[in-house]
Amino acid sequence: MLKFFRSTANQRLVGRLLRESFREHAPTYGVAILAMLVVAGTTAASAWIMRDITNEFTGTKDIEAIYAIAGIVAVIFIVKGLATFVQTLFLSRAGNSIIADRQRKIYDRMLAHGIEFYHSYSSADLIMRMTQSAQAARGVVDTLVTSFIRDLFSVVGLVAVMAFQQPMLSLVAFIVGPIAILVVNKLMKRTRSIMEKELKSVSMIMRVMQETVFGARIVKSFNLEGAMRNRMYSAVEDVQKRANSIAALEAITNPIMETLAGLAIAAVILISGYLVVQGGHSPGSVMAFITALLLCYEPAKRLARARVSLEAGMVGVRLMYEIADRPLTIEETPDAKPLEEGLGEIRFEDVSFSYREQETVLKDLDIVFPPGKMTALVGASGGGKSTVLNLIMRLYDPDSGRILFDGQDIRHTTLHSLRDRIAYVSQDTFLFDATVMHNIRMGREGASDEEVIAAAKAANAHAFIKALPEGYETRVGENGVLLSGGQKQRISIARAILRDAQILLLDEATSALDAESEALFRDALENLQVGRTTVAIAHRLSTVHRADKIIVMDAGRAVEQGTHAELLAKQGGIYKKLHEYQLLPD
Ligand SMILES: Nc1ncnc2c1ncn2[C@@H]1O[C@H](COP(=O)(O)OP(=O)(O)OP(=O)(O)O)[C@@H](O)[C@H]1O
Ligand SMILES: [Mg+2]
Repeated sequence: MLKFFRSTANQRLVGRLLRESFREHAPTYGVAILAMLVVAGTTAASAWIMRDITNEFTGTKDIEAIYAIAGIVAVIFIVKGLATFVQTLFLSRAGNSIIADRQRKIYDRMLAHGIEFYHSYSSADLIMRMTQSAQAARGVVDTLVTSFIRDLFSVVGLVAVMAFQQPMLSLVAFIVGPIAILVVNKLMKRTRSIMEKELKSVSMIMRVMQETVFGARIVKSFNLEGAMRNRMYSAVEDVQKRANSIAALEAITNPIMETLAGLAIAAVILISGYLVVQGGHSPGSVMAFITALLLCYEPAKRLARARVSLEAGMVGVRLMYEIADRPLTIEETPDAKPLEEGLGEIRFEDVSFSYREQETVLKDLDIVFPPGKMTALVGASGGGKSTVLNLIMRLYDPDSGRILFDGQDIRHTTLHSLRDRIAYVSQDTFLFDATVMHNIRMGREGASDEEVIAAAKAANAHAFIKALPEGYETRVGENGVLLSGGQKQRISIARAILRDAQILLLDEATSALDAESEALFRDALENLQVGRTTVAIAHRLSTVHRADKIIVMDAGRAVEQGTHAELLAKQGGIYKKLHEYQLLPD
């Protein structure tokens, strides 16, 4: 136990955990701690009273005194029972609120993070931190409170009884006790590393599980069952091994403790019997001593093992604080102001950006998306087109240069006002596991059913939605697995249309649509685009050539800009070449 606190890292973390937990639940803990003190006191009292019981039985034989003692014993145990009840109830309540608080905090922090955060952790890892770590935080606080208040005070009370009744005998007990604790601690040294590995294996199980579900189609069609099974089995086996090691440690400590305790008691009986029979000590005080010693066993054992639970719990707590302490990469500046209304011009000024060091994705980009017009971004895969949209939404900040919305640097505006201005259809559509209606309504909270349906019509989705078993109330399954690619895309287009935002970002929004749907969508878009700044990434030149402006991107640079006609007129131009490959009429 003491060893646990010798580490300053542990001290700091525990201090922080306790501060945060107590600050919010001080009254609940107050009641629990008070009840614990009562439990500790009554435990000591129950040992103390043994002296009078024994002395009354063997000595004066005064019946009145027996009544009184019986009464006192009854009161002691009633009070102890009540206190135990209060202590358990309030401790659990406080513990449950700690879990709930932690989970709210972890989630809030997660939401505050930029997109880069979500790429740094697997979802399984985050799920584990959300569930196990919050549980672990509660466990640590519980252990600390019960060991330091109830168990420690119980032991102190009982030791006081022992020392007072039989100073000589106490000495013996105090020599054996610490030796037992030392032995246990030695055995527990390995727990920490075992626990850390255990949590990793658990998260591995979740990860394989998720991949199996999300990738079910790939797993089946590529015959990956064997490979997946191997991964899962090895994770399961890891967890099993660790659980066995922990069980082995626990299995060993208990009997060792019991045996040592038994030996100590035998020794005490021997010595105390000698003292009573030969030394003329009162049997009452020896009985009180033995009772106190026996009662000491449980709290002392828990105290000795507190370190194990603490070490195990701290693994989870550390993982939790790692998330809490990770600096936010995208943050509002203190002087951030809401974005001011404007025509909707977006300007990149000398923007350079890389996701990772040394890997420049955008280089000195100087481009303008004219207000109220449609600009198409075209170019080879990996050229940085989606990255441009990421920067417009401020999912990332440029390494250098500025991005201006109607002349305002988006680094100095509030994130909410910025993203409120934008509707986005992503390259890989994402749907929530809810109804079609709900999925579209995500575009604008509070939109009426009629508005949702109008948006679906504009996205050319109304007809197929109507044909679904429950129409707009049909659930789409996890990430829309129950729909076709083109259907999912049309729902996400409807979502963006419903948003009714000034800036429309389309990342290959029509890639999964057949030619007819795409043509219909283009018509809808043309109506929608009036007065909106649209940035559309597209591979199909049929979409592109209607754009007011075309920007050709290659390896992070804007290599050509102009209208369809201007770019086609450019001899040897990239756009011209792209156009020829696709063999489309101009
Ligand atoms: N989250 C990320 N972390 C690290 N690198 C990334 C990340 N996203 C994209 N990249 C890299 O940045 C480069 C540009 O990617 P981007 O997605 O902007 O290309 P794109 O032009 O949209 O391509 P496509 O037409 O295939 O969608 C690529 O080399 C890609 O590997
Ligand atoms: Mg892309």
